[in-house]
Amino acid sequence: MWQGRRVVLGVTGGIAAYKSVHLARALSVRGATVDVVLSHGATRFIGVATFEAVTRRRVVTSLWEPGTALEHVTLGEQADLIIVAPATAHLLARAAQGMADDLLSATLLAARAPVLVAPAMNDEMFAQSATAANLAHLRERGWHVVGPVVGPLAEGPADRPGRMSEPEAILAHAERVLYGEGPLQHAKVLVTAGPTREAIDPVRVVTNRSSGRMGHALAEAAWRRGAEVTLVTGPTGEPPPHGVTVLRVETTSEMAAAVRRHLPSSDVLIMAAAPADYRPVTSRDTKLPRSEGGFTLAFEATDDILLGTLAERHPRLTTVGFALETGDAVAKGRAKLRRKQLDMIVVNDALEPGAGFEVPTNAVTILDVHGVETRVSLRDKALVAEAILDAIEAYRG
Ligand code: CTP
Repeated sequence: MWQGRRVVLGVTGGIAAYKSVHLARALSVRGATVDVVLSHGATRFIGVATFEAVTRRRVVTSLWEPGTALEHVTLGEQADLIIVAPATAHLLARAAQGMADDLLSATLLAARAPVLVAPAMNDEMFAQSATAANLAHLRERGWHVVGPVVGPLAEGPADRPGRMSEPEAILAHAERVLYGEGPLQHAKVLVTAGPTREAIDPVRVVTNRSSGRMGHALAEAAWRRGAEVTLVTGPTGEPPPHGVTVLRVETTSEMAAAVRRHLPSSDVLIMAAAPADYRPVTSRDTKLPRSEGGFTLAFEATDDILLGTLAERHPRLTTVGFALETGDAVAKGRAKLRRKQLDMIVVNDALEPGAGFEVPTNAVTILDVHGVETRVSLRDKALVAEAILDAIEAYRG
């Protein structure tokens, strides 16, 4: 994704400047060529040598260094993306005014590449209307903004935004800036993930081994492609994907309700969740005491979420289901595609090593209603997610 890309990373004078070393390194190890431009203020927080070591490239700090006469033009011209992290209130104000009195601001003014800024400042400074107006103006000019977020600031705890977004979040936003203009841009994508669980009593539940990884990977990948993504997830240990609205549910009927609520405004539904198919007929209000004789639990079927959406599905909706099968997986998947009246189904063979639940990898076959069959060999779930989204984009035409 980053291989061969050229990035200008502008760093201005904030304490968060040290975190930009991680960002520079993350970009470099992914194959990007990273040209770091430090403002004069940044050099008081972090050294040139550190960035030169992680990017293995010369770092520039001034318009007037020998050999940099045209740097403010050439850097921006060659770049695929300019990131400014941290971006101080002062940098935002100067950029909003179109000032070009140092190498970074001149580069920003001369560049045609997309710009992503990660503001970081004291929470009072961020709350000022002057800063808000500058950011609004830069957004109008097409600049992208990530953060700031709420979290401890250098001068102590704050309950208002000011802290720079973490390098990992900046990287994810940068990927959305670079790759977010494809067919899924602005599409509303609803993804479900994880297991659901049904209570036996206040402390015991019935659930399954779904990790939620596939659904989380799909949600984040769709967001990176420019979609607006809502993720309805059962209980999982997965961190919330960047940029995605996350709705947490517990039971199959809660998941069904959340899906039905969001379906009318969705363009794509991806049901990657493994909702519990059964729930105890009665759930007790108090803990069932241990009994040597054991006990028998009666189950009833939960709602089939996909079938429950049939009445609400609108003509522009693309409905994608999953199927976990054992033996003759593709034929069973095709039958499930018809039974659930889906546009597409992603079939996992649970007996295939490295595929299915509780593993970081997957191998799938994607079937669509027109008979197109795409085999995706064993790979990381994040890459399987990309292949599934490629197939969805191709299907939607
Ligand atoms: N699914 C659903 N509602 C359920 C169970 C599953 O909408 N209560 C969805 C899953 O999210 C998946 C698809 O249906 O997209 C197929 O799930 P799977 O568990 O393979 O199929 P089941 O419908 O449970 O059928 P069976 O267990 O008979 O294979």
